[in-house]
Amino acid sequence: MKIVLFGKNGMLGSEFMKLLGDHELLAYDKEDVDLLDLGKTRSVILDAAPDFVINCAGYTAVDDAEANSDLALRLNCDAVATMADACLGCSAKLIHFSTDYVFDGKDEGGYAEDAQSHPVNAYGQSKLLGEEAILESLCDFYIVRTSWLFGKNGPNFVEKMIELSRGRKSLNVVDDQFSCPTYSLDLAKAVVDNFLSGDKESGIYHLTNSGSCSRYEFTKKILDVELLPVASSTFNTPAARPQFSVLLNTKLPHLRSWQDALADYLSN
Ligand SMILES: NC(=O)c1ccc[n+]([C@@H]2O[C@H](COP(=O)([O-])OP(=O)(O)OC[C@H]3O[C@@H](n4cnc5c(N)ncnc54)[C@H](OP(=O)(O)O)[C@@H]3O)[C@@H](O)[C@H]2O)c1
Repeated sequence: MKIVLFGKNGMLGSEFMKLLGDHELLAYDKEDVDLLDLGKTRSVILDAAPDFVINCAGYTAVDDAEANSDLALRLNCDAVATMADACLGCSAKLIHFSTDYVFDGKDEGGYAEDAQSHPVNAYGQSKLLGEEAILESLCDFYIVRTSWLFGKNGPNFVEKMIELSRGRKSLNVVDDQFSCPTYSLDLAKAVVDNFLSGDKESGIYHLTNSGSCSRYEFTKKILDVELLPVASSTFNTPAARPQFSVLLNTKLPHLRSWQDALADYLSN
């Protein structure tokens, strides 16, 4: 199978690099193909005419996106629209990643794949517009929404908390944001298992490790220091966060629990 992968050096993209060795893989990052160059993005796909394009690249800095919403839109929407159009042109299937942050987090019951989206920050808005561009393109696609990714090769919450805790006896952690922590390795494996056969229907899918928790509960499983639960408002971050952005997976086999995945990650 021929596969074009964007974002090969990122947290999720680097996991695909480990898993796709048996395929004809054309893998790129910013230094190879700057996705802001839409003409180049298009020609890389059309020239390869692959079976799949897997897009792990994007503008992922949630707080910075508030001041850089134009750049976030160009990467998370315009570049994605170009990929979708090129995929249509060469009959490739597009596997693209989106986020729980397309939801406003007001529904404590969680969000199924067809729930109404309503982002509360610029990053979520740019990701939603990227999803809509794919839907409008009429290409074959799998949009995979995930949440609270942790793994190697990328700044993430687990590494941030470990770093913050160095030399400290206690730490404030928010206890009013709830979602599903997800190990990037588990996500990449599940995408390979579920989608590369190509027989699933085009559509939006939710893939996370099983279970959900608050940032505070998540941190309790990461660190051995005293944790003080606080409200999100304590930190006054540039971007608002959804409160209960728990993704419900109603279409695919469920992944192992976030606790088992985290223990695995921390022991490696
Ligand atoms: N991280 C999370 O918690 C989370 C949660 C839900 C959904 N997601 C989604 O999952 C996907 C993967 O996330 P991730 O955390 O693995 O992302 P990441 O580690 O931030 O990786 C993003 C990749 O995109 C590349 N990139 C940035 N600008 C580019 C450009 N102009 N041209 C080409 N490549 C460019 C980056 O390259 P450089 O490093 O060289 O800039 C990096 O390799 C994204 O779609 C994200 O929205 C992530």
